[in-house]
Amino acid sequence: MSKKVLLNEEDIPKQWYNILPDLPKPLPPPIDPSTREPIDPRKLEAIFPKTLIQQEISQDRWIPIPEEVRDVYRIWRPTPLYRAIRLEKALKTPARIYYKYEGVSPPGSHKPNTAVAQAYFNLKEGIEVLTTETGAGQWGSALAFATNLFNMRARIYMVKISYEQKPYRKIMMETWGAEVIPSPSNRTEAGRKILERDPSNPGSLGIAISEAIEDALKHDGVKYSLGSVLNHVLIHQTVQGLEAKKQLESIDEYPDIVAGCVGGGSSFSGLFWPFYYDIVSGKALKKIRFIATEPTACPTMTKGVYTYDFGDTAKLTPLLPMYTLGSDFIPAPIHAGGLRYHGDAPTLCLLLKEGIIEPKAYDQVSVFEAATLFAKTEGIIPAPEPSHTIKFVIEEALRAREKNEEKVILFNLCGHGYFDLKAYQEFFDGGLKPYHYPEEMIKESIQKLVKEYPWIKDIPYIKS
Ligand SMILES: Cc1ncc(COP(=O)(O)O)c(C=O)c1O
Repeated sequence: MSKKVLLNEEDIPKQWYNILPDLPKPLPPPIDPSTREPIDPRKLEAIFPKTLIQQEISQDRWIPIPEEVRDVYRIWRPTPLYRAIRLEKALKTPARIYYKYEGVSPPGSHKPNTAVAQAYFNLKEGIEVLTTETGAGQWGSALAFATNLFNMRARIYMVKISYEQKPYRKIMMETWGAEVIPSPSNRTEAGRKILERDPSNPGSLGIAISEAIEDALKHDGVKYSLGSVLNHVLIHQTVQGLEAKKQLESIDEYPDIVAGCVGGGSSFSGLFWPFYYDIVSGKALKKIRFIATEPTACPTMTKGVYTYDFGDTAKLTPLLPMYTLGSDFIPAPIHAGGLRYHGDAPTLCLLLKEGIIEPKAYDQVSVFEAATLFAKTEGIIPAPEPSHTIKFVIEEALRAREKNEEKVILFNLCGHGYFDLKAYQEFFDGGLKPYHYPEEMIKESIQKLVKEYPWIKDIPYIKS
């Protein structure tokens, strides 16, 4: 029995998979709040390069990966697929657990799979500077890493609470030459407005997105880059699932369950889309369950409302059809910074609504218990985000033991936790609280949105 399954550099995929032509229903379009109609893609050119906009709306199932991007992928791809033999033994489970480990990338997560592609396509269109937001610091590190390799620059608005909790992430970004700004900041109108009302605002991804977009809109030669949610980002992440399929095939395995965590949905989608394709193309060897995990502190999928909402706090983005907690959501300062976003990818939300994905929410105390067991058995200290999935996997493996079932479970360990040790320390000291976001606050926030934009409830595309 092998501990890990490796591929060669030639096995790095040559095409990304795009789920759009294979969705069970057409994806409801993003809406331009100024016209109340589907957005004209040309309007997006103010912040994104043309190639990425084309990918965003493309109905092509396969999108070629440029050689220059594959060449950078070679630094860490193909990533290993591990069998969690020691965790299985500790749980005395007949389940076979596999994890695709994306923590081997230089920034330590799956995020560079898209950062490298986005930097490359921007450079091809003459862009020299990219702005972005970062929560946990993983996405910012990935974009700093990618822009540096293509001799570009990055300006990164980092959620203030993470900026303070994670000084080493900031230094990592600076090592790759990026400028890191704690958000809310005085650099932008959006940031200044928030600081006037609340000078000690801890920041949120929604606020940082507003700042990064405003920065790109106001400066020439500068575009904005998003680390999750949008179709083109999720497309770039499918290298994970395409490799994992090949790896499992090489050892005659096929998953009963594919699981991942969801902040905006890019790591999970990157893993499960290629298996979803097996189903729609009639090639699946089993009936697969797709499980998406999230924190009870930010329960977008389990408690959110399916409606059109803005992607950011200052309402600069188009309206997106998604499960949302309300775009003015200020999350509790939990340590899974990458999962503290008020909405999710529209494709993921559609599949959730259609019952193709099952959501599960866990509180951070039970998540860190699971993460610690994983670290003690498998050795790798996981990032708090995928530890939500580890919690699910452990529960499922114990269920398999009760029922004596040989389940095959695949999940993505989409990042390591070596910059998250303060969170582990708080867990060991008993300082972490099992926070649950109150449902009244979701209701309040959505009511506010509908009051301000009463026509949102009449947008035809998501009426079922
Ligand atoms: C390690 C890790 N996992 C998951 C996420 C969540 O994002 P997504 O759902 O797009 O994968 C993040 C976001 O920063 C992250 O850093």
